[in-house]
Amino acid sequence: MGLKIISKDEAASYINNGDILGFSGFTPAGAAKAIPGALAARARKEHQAGKPFKVGIITGASTGDALDGELARARAVLFRTPYQSNRELRDLINNGEVDFFDIHLSSVAQSIRYGFFGKINFAIIEAADVTEKGEITLTSSVGISPTICASAQNVLIELNKSHPAALRGIHDIYEPEDPPHRKEIPVFAPEDRAGSPVITIDPDKILGIVETDIPDETSPFKESDDKTETIGRNVASFLLSELERGTIPAGFLPVQSGVGNIANAVLSSLGGTVPQFRMYTEVIQDSVITLMKNNAVSFASGCSLTVSKPVLKNIYGNLPFFKKRILLRPQEISNNPEIIRRLGLITINTALEADLFRNINSTNVLGSRMMNGIGGAGDFTRNAYLSIFTCPSTAKNGTISTIVPMVTHADHSEHSVQVLITEQGIADLRAKSPKGKMEEILNNCVHPDYREQLREYARLGGHTHTPQTLCAAFGMHQHYLKTGTMKGIDWGTYICR
Ligand code: COA
Repeated sequence: MGLKIISKDEAASYINNGDILGFSGFTPAGAAKAIPGALAARARKEHQAGKPFKVGIITGASTGDALDGELARARAVLFRTPYQSNRELRDLINNGEVDFFDIHLSSVAQSIRYGFFGKINFAIIEAADVTEKGEITLTSSVGISPTICASAQNVLIELNKSHPAALRGIHDIYEPEDPPHRKEIPVFAPEDRAGSPVITIDPDKILGIVETDIPDETSPFKESDDKTETIGRNVASFLLSELERGTIPAGFLPVQSGVGNIANAVLSSLGGTVPQFRMYTEVIQDSVITLMKNNAVSFASGCSLTVSKPVLKNIYGNLPFFKKRILLRPQEISNNPEIIRRLGLITINTALEADLFRNINSTNVLGSRMMNGIGGAGDFTRNAYLSIFTCPSTAKNGTISTIVPMVTHADHSEHSVQVLITEQGIADLRAKSPKGKMEEILNNCVHPDYREQLREYARLGGHTHTPQTLCAAFGMHQHYLKTGTMKGIDWGTYICR
């Protein structure tokens, strides 16, 4: 039986209330874009007829508005995992309408195989090409697509002509065996290939193919500013000094860089300062491509090509050049702890807030409101050769100090975080006691507007191993909630003896 072209509405008509759907996509790159809109329209109709219609959504990471935004607006989301960045979906998560599970991105695929999420009813996959033999060439990301294609009962494909079929060869599709039979993953350098250029499935599993040409919904990054450029220069000078003192091997080590505006700007600053390097990362952002063109980055292995539209056009216009330099893997492999530790990655991720004792919060504003999710930051930080966190020393026009006595939500603990860098300077936290870390952070990372106030907090703790004062530890957050700024706190009101 040949592959059948169907409409997006027909595709949506196969899906039932309560189904669990696995979508391709890691960031808006490679995310399904046509079927989710039709599914949202279907949900609205069912709701108008007084019937329930919600689906569970598992993806690689965040997606675009055509998926998370459409389904959130249609109130069609039962649960969502593992990462999101859509404002409307975030609001539903934060007002309790959508259940959200925030998990390390490296463990999503194996959690599906282990059966932790239940049965996946449909895999909805964006493809650049699909053959009668069931060979699927993915588009600008890999995410969890190999696993959901294998695990789902049925597969729906969005064949997207905005991605060239000539992408075949840029992906390396590999799934490890599950315990107790797992063996070493044969990736010993960022450019190593372990698997196949395509996902191969039984073509009978493909219910239909929806043709589309909707481009990836990636948006341009904020221009870097003085603060992010200074953070970037601080990261570069720290890495250079480590290279000089021999703690980083002479040929340098592969770099992972996080997501968002700050990470993009920080990475840009490394070009031309540190020696040419390779990347073993999760998201390949615009800055990587610029560094590649300038010969500052020789190779990038990642799980998605999340670049702005003009940059993607340029890559697709010069595919032979970029296919030699870019490799896209499943997130289970791009973020794999075994490989991260083996390659010895220098990891650079962004914090929302850090505390005086080097615990990091990168997910929850004021401890309770989900921002995006932990993403791959935990995979990389915990297993890094050298783990760095960056953030501006203040947020929201200086009313928030990103350095606080105690983080309101802990994503990365003091046991994994080695270096903290703000625009104020560099805190090298290796081989230091909690008090030593505190001094390093107070002296080098805190904004001058908050330095004395945080020193006073430190004095409250007296002579314990970790001088926290529990009744005052969230004082700065409480002061912000009451007054709109963390400045001007009177610690006297918090002494609880
Ligand atoms: N308290 C409250 N809000 C804060 C804050 C704090 N301590 N620090 C930052 N913010 C706000 C900013 O004001 C901004 O708000 P806005 O969207 O209303 O303008 C928002 O958080 C994002 O900050 P921004 O400065 O634009 O940073 P970013 O785009 O670089 O994103 C993270 C930063 C932490 C949200 C982002 O890196 C992330 O989601 N990280 C977790 C996942 C991860 O690290 N993945 C990488 C693995 S490869």
